[in-house]
Amino acid sequence: MAEITFRVNGSEKKVSVSSETPLLWVLRDTLELTGTKFGCGAGLCGACTVHIDGNAVRSCATLVSQVAGKSVTTIEGLAASDGLPLHILQAAWIAEEVPQCGYCQTGQIMSAAALLARSPHPTDDQITKAMNGNLCRCGTYERIRKAIHRAADAGRSAREIAELRRESGDGGGR
Ligand code: FES
Ligand code: FES
Repeated sequence: MAEITFRVNGSEKKVSVSSETPLLWVLRDTLELTGTKFGCGAGLCGACTVHIDGNAVRSCATLVSQVAGKSVTTIEGLAASDGLPLHILQAAWIAEEVPQCGYCQTGQIMSAAALLARSPHPTDDQITKAMNGNLCRCGTYERIRKAIHRAADAGRSAREIAELRRESGDGGGR
């Protein structure tokens, strides 16, 4: 057993687990953040995608010891990172009615969020490349693409509204 400290969704966490434990199981079983899903367990499907220091990473293929001192964001903390009640991608996902069974969608949104953070207006090619490793057995790929474009188009105005709210002392009512 090892004591490992890292930040999750902005809060410092200290866990006592085997340093060989995949991050996915620490998030789900120890920290009870069950929004991150287990799919293949082999780094192949993307269902378990989280951000580590802003980069999209497969949490099933990352040992918890590898995140010591780092900052992890899961789907539960994504909205807060955007300063809005919902992350702009979550709002776009709802507007485009993207999910079918929903199982892969956490990972899809986390990969898309990392893409938008580095490319606020991605081309179709950039979307294809960034989302390539995120599998969807329900075949929602075209709706995912539309939602990413929608979020990219809406992103600037939403950020401006959030900024105005902050300046006027209105936290958005939540
Ligand atoms: S569960 Fe991690 S990539 Fe499939
Ligand atoms: S929505 Fe069912 S696997 Fe993607």
